[in-house]
Amino acid sequence: MTLLELKSVSKRFGDHLALDGVNLAVPANSRTAIVGPSGSGKTTVLRIIAGFETPDSGQVLLEGRDLTNTPAHRRGIGYVAQEGALFPHLSIAENIGFGLERSDPTRRVRVTELMDLVGLPATMRDRRPHELSGGQQQRVALARALARKPKLMLLDEPFSALDAGLREAMREMVGDALRAAGIASILVTHDRAEALGFADHLAVMRDGALIQAGTPQTLYREPADALTARFLGDALIIDAKMEDGRALSIFGPIETNAIGANGRATIMLRTEQIAVTALDSATRTNGPTGRVLSQSFHGARCRLVVEAMWRPEESGDKQSLTLETSSLSAPEVGAVVRLDIVGPAHVLTRED
Ligand SMILES: Nc1ncnc2c1ncn2[C@@H]1O[C@H](COP(=O)(O)OP(=O)(O)O)[C@@H](O)[C@H]1O
Ligand SMILES: [Mg+2]
Repeated sequence: MTLLELKSVSKRFGDHLALDGVNLAVPANSRTAIVGPSGSGKTTVLRIIAGFETPDSGQVLLEGRDLTNTPAHRRGIGYVAQEGALFPHLSIAENIGFGLERSDPTRRVRVTELMDLVGLPATMRDRRPHELSGGQQQRVALARALARKPKLMLLDEPFSALDAGLREAMREMVGDALRAAGIASILVTHDRAEALGFADHLAVMRDGALIQAGTPQTLYREPADALTARFLGDALIIDAKMEDGRALSIFGPIETNAIGANGRATIMLRTEQIAVTALDSATRTNGPTGRVLSQSFHGARCRLVVEAMWRPEESGDKQSLTLETSSLSAPEVGAVVRLDIVGPAHVLTRED
């Protein structure tokens, strides 16, 4: 079931087209991430959903109802901004309880529950925001947004001001808290690792347009274009000639996801699809090989630049590729290596 739907939403600021006909469907109970470079229109999408901004054209539907004439505070949508935007003169408890009726007798208990849900110790009740760390302030902002029991939570890069270790812990905490409360969420981020780690539904934006949406696995393995491929992870993009669905390239003939295709093509392999093994002089292989040109150490992984060749004695075709291996078994510079392709290549573009 679809909880939220954007239909052909456009928005202009002056002569800048910030959103260009964005379509997006957010499934109920999902954790959706919108990922895209800075300036691609992510915040504008969230602000339109929240009701802080009005689209020039298009529609926003929540549970099938058009939200055009519903003001922000009546939409049942929570919003956590990049900087928590807490009220500096109010205590933590007052910040969290801000949206609750003052006369509500359960207010105090509810604030305690919310603090517990987001992992804030009860002793922080009477502190002011400036007496909390950045991570704690974001917990307060989340608790405040949860207080009104929204159907949908919007999170605009809420972890970007935190340092790396804390960011991951916060992301898990927020995901767990939202799941426990049964609230669907949309997380906006420019960080692909954050998006892939959070989402069960992913949308990629670029230049005000929604490029592709689907499961993180589908977008990672079968990106719509080369920019999306590179944005979501390390990719090898190489020229090939298709013959009945197989691609002939620097790696020799390999399987692809374009069944029966023929003609020139550009194909993509994720770096982890290429297994690199050192070849000693006694071992022979009929498959693609390469020679290690350089090696750099990155802790668990080693990055290699490999000159790959397919039957060099026949074609002389060579290409330098950046590959990775476990640093425990990294071949030395100058070593000849076997290159094993794991899984099919994704065909990015094709000319029949
Ligand atoms: N209120 C505004 N007035 C003018 N331009 C804006 C306004 N809000 C956003 N923009 C412009 O619209 C584009 C998209 O912005 P935004 O949605 O904030 O992108 P993102 O969140 O992906 O970084 C940017 O070029 C930005 O400068
Ligand atoms: Mg933004």
